Amino acid sequence: MAKPVSIEVWNPNGKYRVVSTKPMPGTRWINLLVEQDCRVEVCTQKKTILSIEDIIALIGDKCDGVIGQLTEEWGDALFSALSRAGGKAFGNMAVGYNNVDVDAATKHGVAVGNTPGVLTETTAELAASLSLAAARRIVEADEFMRAGLYDGWLPNLFVGNLLKGQTVGVIGAGRIGSAYARMMVEGFKMNLIYYDLYQATRLEKFITGYAEFLRANGEQPVKWKRAASMEEVLREADVISLHPVLDKTTYHLINKESLATMKKEAILVNCSRGPVIDEVALVEHLKHNPMFRVGLDVFEDEPYMKPGLADQKNAIIVPHIASASKWTREGMATLAALNVLGKIKGYPIWSDPNRVEPFLKEDASPPAACPSIVNAKALGLPVSKL
Ligand code: GLV
Repeated sequence: MAKPVSIEVWNPNGKYRVVSTKPMPGTRWINLLVEQDCRVEVCTQKKTILSIEDIIALIGDKCDGVIGQLTEEWGDALFSALSRAGGKAFGNMAVGYNNVDVDAATKHGVAVGNTPGVLTETTAELAASLSLAAARRIVEADEFMRAGLYDGWLPNLFVGNLLKGQTVGVIGAGRIGSAYARMMVEGFKMNLIYYDLYQATRLEKFITGYAEFLRANGEQPVKWKRAASMEEVLREADVISLHPVLDKTTYHLINKESLATMKKEAILVNCSRGPVIDEVALVEHLKHNPMFRVGLDVFEDEPYMKPGLADQKNAIIVPHIASASKWTREGMATLAALNVLGKIKGYPIWSDPNRVEPFLKEDASPPAACPSIVNAKALGLPVSKL
């Protein structure tokens, strides 16, 4: 028998019971659920990662929907518990859903929601921050100051890389990869090389237009190239940022061999998912190549790091905060709640999950639709005409 889990309750007499496995930013998401007759229970247990047993205890005997987190393994055990309790929806508060067994959810008739469209710029900005911090050795320099080691300006103190005119490489030029590419090209006048199975037509157009603007103003135009292989990006780029989804084909995409292909002074950034990099191989590479630098937001065995990583001065490491801007996190909470609410109310699915602004307007009611359900097709759910 699992121990009882502590909760906070809003609208105790609500008709539908919705559980959130964590307190989430903002209050709009709670208000929207309460206005639609939901009793909202938020788990307040002081434990960062809940166990499957904890979540089963939270689901209980009657539960219409759950909002959960990317740290939770949503597989057969949880989906069968949710469907036994009469649940119809699970809203993952994340755009990535590699923690969810979508087939298991579909088998139990549970809709799985995610939160695209609100993370793009925030995540790209963190990738850009890590790129700059690595290029200009900001964390090392900060530690040096705090340690009281600064005793005067020196010509060789913390010399890093100039980004202007260098090449930024993007692996996976979807929403976030393209936003990052634009930041680095338009902000720092880097040239772009990208690898993606699909042509990033919009991105190419933006950069072509920017190059024309620079040329017309007497400045050196930027260049772009779509690489024929990932290796071409690894060989040619000075800064490489990883933006693929994590699946069988991208597990350890960056390994001993691919690291050896990169320039000795390259910068590698990962704000996607940890297992895209073989972290043991990365630690070895960092040890033997002191001028190679890395900026990591995600890790192979989160919340742990592979031995030796934290000792490397050429690694900047932050705790999975790429989506952590107030606007984005509140937006994610709202979308996760609206996915669950929409399914409970029998609403259709929003036709374009990238165009989620109508759901985020503080002063208006959201559309009567589920913003983004990843197994909508498999469940045969109708698409909204709005
Ligand atoms: C965060 O990592 C997300 O996938 O939303």
